[in-house]
Amino acid sequence: MSGVLVFFVNGKKVTEVSPDPECTLLTYLRERLRLCGTKLGCAEGGCGACTVMVSRLDRRASKIRHLAVNACLTPVCAMHGCAVTTVEGIGSTRTRLHPVQERLAKAHGSQCGFCTPGIVMSMYALLRNAEQPSMRDLEVAFQGNLCRCTGYRPILEGYKTFTKEFACGLGDQCCKVNGKGCGSVSDETDDKLFERSEFQPLDPSQEPIFPPELQLSEAFDTQSLVFSSDRVTWYRPTKLEELLQLKAQHPAAKLVVGNTEVGVEVKFKHFLYPHLINPTQVEELLEVRESPDGIYFGAAVSLMEIDALLRRRIEELPESETRLFQCTVDMLHYFAGKQIRNVACLGGNIMTGSPISDMNPVLSAAGAQLEVASFVDGQIRRRTVHMGTGFFTGYRRNVIEAHEVLLGIHFRKTSPDQYIVAFKQARRRDDDIAIVNAAINVRFAEHSNLVAEISMAFGGMAPTTVLAPRTAQLMAGQEWNHQLVERVAESLCTELPLAASAPGGMIAYRRALVVSLFFKAYLAISLKLSQSGVVSSDAVAPEERSGAQTFHTPVLKSAQLFERVCSDQPICDPIGRPQVHAAALKQATGEAIYTDDIPRMDGEVYLAFVLSTKPRAKITRLDATAALALDGVHRFFSYKDLTEHENEVGPVFHDEHVFAAGEVHCYGQIVGAIAADNKALAQRAARLVNVEYQELSPVIVTIEQAIEHKSYFPDYPRFVTKGNVEQALAQADHTFEGTCRMGGQEHFYLETHAALAVPRDSDELELFCSTQHPSEVQKLVAHVTALPSHRVVCRAKRLGGGFGGKESRGISVALPVALAAYRMGRPVRCMLDRDEDMLITGTRHPFLFKYKVGFTKEGLITACDIECYNNAGWSMDLSFSVLERAMYHFENCYRIPNVRVGGWVCKTNLPSNTAFRGFGGPQGMYAGEHIIRDVARIVGREVVDVMRLNFYKTGDYTHYNQQLEHFPIERCLEDCLKQSRYNEKRMEIARFNRENRWRKRGMAVVPTKYGIAFGVMHLNQAGALINIYGDGSVLLSHGGVEIGQGLNTKMIQCAARALGIPPDLIHISETATDKVPNTSPTAASVGSDINGMAVLDACEKLNKRLAPIKEALPDGTWKEWINKAYFDRVSLSATGFYAMPGIGYHPETNPNARTYSYYTNGVGVSVVEIDCLTGDHQVLSTDIVMDIGSSLNPAIDIGQIEGAFMQGYGLFTLEELMYSPQGMLYSRGPGMYKLPGFADIPGEFNVSLLTGAPNPRAVYSSKAVGEPPLFIGSSAFFAIKEAIAAARQDQGLSGDFPLEAPSTSARIRIACQDKFTKLLDMPEPGSFTPWNIVP
Ligand SMILES: Cc1cc2nc3c(=O)[nH]c(=O)nc-3n(C[C@H](O)[C@H](O)[C@H](O)COP(=O)(O)OP(=O)(O)OC[C@H]3O[C@@H](n4cnc5c(N)ncnc54)[C@H](O)[C@@H]3O)c2cc1C
Ligand code: FES
Ligand code: FES
Repeated sequence: MSGVLVFFVNGKKVTEVSPDPECTLLTYLRERLRLCGTKLGCAEGGCGACTVMVSRLDRRASKIRHLAVNACLTPVCAMHGCAVTTVEGIGSTRTRLHPVQERLAKAHGSQCGFCTPGIVMSMYALLRNAEQPSMRDLEVAFQGNLCRCTGYRPILEGYKTFTKEFACGLGDQCCKVNGKGCGSVSDETDDKLFERSEFQPLDPSQEPIFPPELQLSEAFDTQSLVFSSDRVTWYRPTKLEELLQLKAQHPAAKLVVGNTEVGVEVKFKHFLYPHLINPTQVEELLEVRESPDGIYFGAAVSLMEIDALLRRRIEELPESETRLFQCTVDMLHYFAGKQIRNVACLGGNIMTGSPISDMNPVLSAAGAQLEVASFVDGQIRRRTVHMGTGFFTGYRRNVIEAHEVLLGIHFRKTSPDQYIVAFKQARRRDDDIAIVNAAINVRFAEHSNLVAEISMAFGGMAPTTVLAPRTAQLMAGQEWNHQLVERVAESLCTELPLAASAPGGMIAYRRALVVSLFFKAYLAISLKLSQSGVVSSDAVAPEERSGAQTFHTPVLKSAQLFERVCSDQPICDPIGRPQVHAAALKQATGEAIYTDDIPRMDGEVYLAFVLSTKPRAKITRLDATAALALDGVHRFFSYKDLTEHENEVGPVFHDEHVFAAGEVHCYGQIVGAIAADNKALAQRAARLVNVEYQELSPVIVTIEQAIEHKSYFPDYPRFVTKGNVEQALAQADHTFEGTCRMGGQEHFYLETHAALAVPRDSDELELFCSTQHPSEVQKLVAHVTALPSHRVVCRAKRLGGGFGGKESRGISVALPVALAAYRMGRPVRCMLDRDEDMLITGTRHPFLFKYKVGFTKEGLITACDIECYNNAGWSMDLSFSVLERAMYHFENCYRIPNVRVGGWVCKTNLPSNTAFRGFGGPQGMYAGEHIIRDVARIVGREVVDVMRLNFYKTGDYTHYNQQLEHFPIERCLEDCLKQSRYNEKRMEIARFNRENRWRKRGMAVVPTKYGIAFGVMHLNQAGALINIYGDGSVLLSHGGVEIGQGLNTKMIQCAARALGIPPDLIHISETATDKVPNTSPTAASVGSDINGMAVLDACEKLNKRLAPIKEALPDGTWKEWINKAYFDRVSLSATGFYAMPGIGYHPETNPNARTYSYYTNGVGVSVVEIDCLTGDHQVLSTDIVMDIGSSLNPAIDIGQIEGAFMQGYGLFTLEELMYSPQGMLYSRGPGMYKLPGFADIPGEFNVSLLTGAPNPRAVYSSKAVGEPPLFIGSSAFFAIKEAIAAARQDQGLSGDFPLEAPSTSARIRIACQDKFTKLLDMPEPGSFTPWNIVP
């Protein structure tokens, strides 16, 4: 056996003599080969940031296969004989961009850019397999990629240009080719965000070839390999006997095919498998054999290959024979993402035996036959086992023994009277594991609807996939009709119970799903029976038929309309034009450097954290001896390394600790840190630190518990009042008391928190940090190291997203890293793993609102008394400010003359919650939108009419005494209603709801008003520095941080107009505290407003100095003027400064000042369809009209609107944080926490910018845009609520029902009560400990 690993990366041969079997391809690329274009986003195959293309010669088929794979799960040892292509290997800004890179960047599909290389590589791999893919191919290709910034629309828009569907048949006349656009463009508006005619054509002949060396030598496939480290040995046998012998010798060895189960166990459960066997070169496991009975797949054949062959046979064979094949491909479509399916095998799925496996229910219901082999008494023994009753023997166990290997699986053809269907319900349709899945396999007596035999298997209901034999027995010999359904439903409820505390939670929902999925199967099979004439065509009532269907991703339709620049605007003036993000090309080629991409330095160590495993406890012992005993571990840091004062930190109030001091207040609090030679070692050592605790009580997790224990931060509650609430409520025609509640939200920036600290001299520190607030990091690093601020420099070049999560929480990582670097005199680095980041850094604040509203019989609101509670976690962080914004935004766009708003900051044992795009505004407005709907319902009027009646008018005052100037909400509303064809859709929806019992539609309009300014007065300032060099190039620095929002691009545009030069003469390198001091965080949406004004100030100074020179040389060029200025000894460097005027409202000391400089408004309309049986939903359309003044850059602004909408959509409908009753976060990665994916974009997504609405209060008449559109995402939530109301109306139930956000499939299903949910007997709340609670 040989031990040299050989593979190619981007055409270059890599030879590794002793590869580490525990090393992933991602780590190898990033750390050994310094190819940092491939990013780490999650390490669990759930985000796609690490996507690369692996090419392999399939010698049996004489074909080179190109596969997109997740490098984070691919063992580098598995790469023997493969060619790996990374984003750096296909193009670069210095040589030639690949069309895949160019189109993504120029279509504005890259904001922060952290997801971009992965998306580029998914598309590249697709094009290597299909020169002209279909839109469905695109849908599949991106199932495994996430983007948190763009909202996906621009990515699809750019990549659509590669597809078959792109040219619409009109040839040269097509609007997409001639560039005239399809939308309702006019003289004032434009709809072309990018110029497709500029795109380079795709020329497949230019692609790199597969390395000839790998083609020529068969040894790459036939060689048996062994790679060993001191912990793990990797075997790659190439013969079955060799494989079976190894398994006989090491029965506990893991077989590694796709490594998508094993890799996750090793990384997150910290399992150590000393023997790993890679069987992918063993012919018997790759065999595909067809026979008249069906198809046999070797256990290591990838899911994608299975899918492809089954699809071909479905097309060729009679439908009745391929029902199992069809059911399998339907299931595989929703099985993980393409990167996983490209490598994962069926054997791995069966053998893992996860209770929520997708294929096990199908194969169990089908009674699939498995071939198994082992090596016993010197020979190969084979046997056959059947899946079905008795196959699974316990959690992740089955009848196949440890020394045996699964060889393959038979997929039988179905008989004409046999039907098999399967359904899967997950949190998110694409790339998610099931909550419950079901497969029903029924055979009828010939040409009848009498059940001859039935097998039903369910996942998600027990520690294994389970069958329902008792119910099946009851069905035998019965007619397949509605009466049978009633009996089956009752029987399934008792046969598949679920304990009230069962892991996974959602007990009622899961139980309801069992019955509902069976009913869906019943409908689907009944429709087939009626199609084949076995039962009458009216066996299923027309209104029930859609109940059999599931949602499919529609092909995206979209339009973006924005104001055209004046025809006399000079062509080189970029303001108002859709300029491409300044770093987009670098981001698309992987050249853009993020914090962790900075090359390793001499002597550098990695810092890993020891985290609290208790919600509230005294630390009784803290012992790092075992950790420090490991070779390569250098030091342990804890509170003992700091004075009490130095250890006390926090963004505003110093109520936190760098390291827990004696007591911990939540799970995930940082107790200590280990510095070691590398990440894996540091993390392993950190797990060896012995921390003992004495638990304390009470543990407070939820807002309700905080209210019960009066656990509030000091000085709360606070109140804001206007008018006389009591009196107005007493005089109102109607009053209504309501509550509403919404959960938190994980930021899920694709780049987790990262910091690198480098000691300079003996008393200086330089930090590279993924922070939205470099000055705060600088200040607090100075605090913990006892250095003056002028010895600390904090730099932030770009962030892979922030969304508020890196405004104040960056200190959790930066401070220990800086301290360690300073104390050790060595560079120290840390980039949190995704699970650590989610556990440590807090979320958006969950909120609870209780309100009493008074209104007239027409629906005019006269008074509101409202209580706002936010769940702050254990320290204050920015929670006071978040609460204040919620209290100032609760009335949204509605004038309420008498108001009392109370606010409580609840102190709980959760990680400190923090800023998140919208900063309490969306939570406040969420209450307002409940109120307006309550009023409309009670007075029996249309919601839109009640909105119109209550809208603020220009000149009105808010409850914090701000007068509204230029308040365009009615215009936004009318434009949006028109754009969305609101009235027409209302009628269509009413008709749809009449005609469908199990599908319902709803539509909702949501307006928004978002105040622009920091709530804290002194932050509303900014600085800039402009240096002009002798060659005329301009280096611009400002106080804002580029977090993907396009701030640098806009600042370049502003400077270009102000200086009268082309934007490409201007460069922004980084944000650094030694260039612009005392900066404010890049937050509150004011980045462009305040930094833009500071940039203009600096430009004005320079223009003034240059004016005499320009006057003297009127025909000179910029370069000549600069040259002259230099020789004339004119300073070519200027600082700029801006302080936002007129703000600083305080009810007592400054009552006439503004709280906000101005407001950004908008309106959105969404139409949603729900599946009442499963709770699944789809957004059919969204229309948005935003007033963002005169847009500085419509491409970037529309990108912000779409990205914010999708993030808001996630907040209100999809993203659910799951906590244990003790406050431990369960959802610590993309596997369990679901952000919207590509398939979740509204089917039709139209965005218009209001025209003719310049804003006098911001740079070049623009308006802030980052946060305001987020709340429009709630239009999907309110539309879902409408749809549920329609379902409830069919049942004669009230339209007044609670629905908490996010409106997950579980909440939707349970709110749609029906005959099935009535069957569920649920224990009383309080009589058991639930698995999870909602904070
Ligand atoms: C992001 C992500 C999404 C996922 N989504 C889904 C999903 O939607 N639905 C779903 O069901 N699963 C899902 N999974 C789980 C996983 O992808 C599947 O179970 C997959 O089929 C495992 O195959 P593999 O080749 O990667 O297994 P590996 O990790 O290589 O092996 C898994 C186990 O199977 C054993 N094994 C493999 N082959 C054999 C054999 N021939 N004989 C004996 N033992 C064998 C190994 O010893 C090991 O214990 C997901 C996983 C990830 C990481
Ligand atoms: S880092 Fe590999 S999929 Fe997220
Ligand atoms: S651009 Fe996609 S995550 Fe930021």
